[in-house]
Amino acid sequence: MHLTHNRRLAAALAVVASAALAGSLALVRPASADTSLKQLAEAKSKYFGTALVQSNLSNSALVGVATSQFDMMTPGNEMKWDTTEPSNGTFNFGPGDALVAFAQAHSMRVRGHNLVWHSQLPSWVSSLPANQVQAAMETHITTEATHYKGEVYSWDVVNEPFNDDGTLRQDAFYNAMGTGYIADALRTAHAADPNAKLYLNDYNIEGENTKSNAMYSLVQSLLSQGVPINGIGLESHFILGQVPSTMQANMARFAALGLDVAVTELDDRIQLPASSANLAQQASDYSTVVSDCLAVTRCVGVSQWGVGDADSWIPGTFSGYGAATMYDQNYQPKPAYNAAVSALGGGVTSSSSSPTTPASSTSPTSPTSSSSSPGGGAACKVSDTVDAWNTGLTENITISNTGSAAVNGWNLAFTLASGQSVTNAWNATISPSSGSVTATNLSYDAAIAPGGSVSFGLQATHTGNASAPPSFSLNGQACATG
Ligand code: G3I
Repeated sequence: MHLTHNRRLAAALAVVASAALAGSLALVRPASADTSLKQLAEAKSKYFGTALVQSNLSNSALVGVATSQFDMMTPGNEMKWDTTEPSNGTFNFGPGDALVAFAQAHSMRVRGHNLVWHSQLPSWVSSLPANQVQAAMETHITTEATHYKGEVYSWDVVNEPFNDDGTLRQDAFYNAMGTGYIADALRTAHAADPNAKLYLNDYNIEGENTKSNAMYSLVQSLLSQGVPINGIGLESHFILGQVPSTMQANMARFAALGLDVAVTELDDRIQLPASSANLAQQASDYSTVVSDCLAVTRCVGVSQWGVGDADSWIPGTFSGYGAATMYDQNYQPKPAYNAAVSALGGGVTSSSSSPTTPASSTSPTSPTSSSSSPGGGAACKVSDTVDAWNTGLTENITISNTGSAAVNGWNLAFTLASGQSVTNAWNATISPSSGSVTATNLSYDAAIAPGGSVSFGLQATHTGNASAPPSFSLNGQACATG
């Protein structure tokens, strides 16, 4: 134990030193929103996380984004069985400790990932005689969860237990112990670290489908037996445009069982090369996921799998696909980042599509904000920020209900500057694409309580005039602006 603490102290000091170096050398500014993802999420009692691997810690651009934007960290590989117990009874927590020390030095919490998984499992486990697997699993869980006791917010106790058809995966644990291995793993983890939130984590369970139904049934059964379980992780490795429409309802049904839910490994892969329309669709997808989480009180947060496109597992696994995260290869924010900020209620004040241009600089056409048309006496106020580059723009619009009556269903009418043409919208539908247009609520943001607000956004092309609309009217009534 003494040795462990010394090792961790050394790792922490090394991290602090490397972070100081990274800070002094950082060439890439953090992203360009008014407020960071983590601050916006915290204001809504959520977190916004990312996955890191140990080699990331020496990348100053990556570290700059990770520490400014995210308040939760999931080790990408370093807490998995092949690293932590590569041979029977020999434990190696060095790589995981380095990541935990980094997280602690930057006020990030840690999602422990993972204790039991069929993959990245050393061959000695799958080669064990069946009657030795349970003891090996329990020893592994007890040793690792005890090592990190008090240092992880949560554990993915069993990772990816299901096949896509809803049957349990026939891995070494299932084959040796049957379905009961899951309850045994949860009980063992709870005994080692009673305060860690214990999760089952899987992919393709984001919407309501055969696999998530199977997870739901399993969890009902575990709860009825008094098995300690606190949450369900929805990995959320999406394909562009395929965020399930039932994601919010699916999260809500798990929450109704008394569980937390979390989006644990979000990315959204695009067939390369990514077009601007693809990036706009990705922005819409990210907005949907963040909004779905915000709509479910027991959705505790969203974590992306990796910081930027340069760090993503996607190109190595899905040939021809990539561009799956909120940050490009140079750690510049993409439209998906702005959409996530907007969905969290933040405003994007400026950014640049050029990796060499500081985020705070302006081009001749950007940024432009409307501030005219006071609209005295209106029961609504609209604020609008435009982020433009040479031929395109994104616009984030927030409608505040300044009246005393709730708005139930809204349309916002405004006129786009000549030459502007909408290519994509998030949190609203917009029609037609140019001239005098109307933005209409989606099902999940129809209501605006008195004193409340909703935000939506659009991406558009332009031919030189990127100015914001001068005025807006909500359900036929002029709004104040500014
Ligand atoms: O460490 C070896 C190295 O020695 C060797 O030279 C190299 C050659 O390929 O491989 C290295 O191991 C790689 C390991 O990552 C560490 O970098 C494996 O090949 C590679 O398959 C492994 O990929 C990881 C993958 O899980 C394994 O399934 C990804 O980095 C990691 O991001 C990914 O994460 C998973 C989550 O844990 C669970 N959900 C899905 C998610 C994406 O696959």
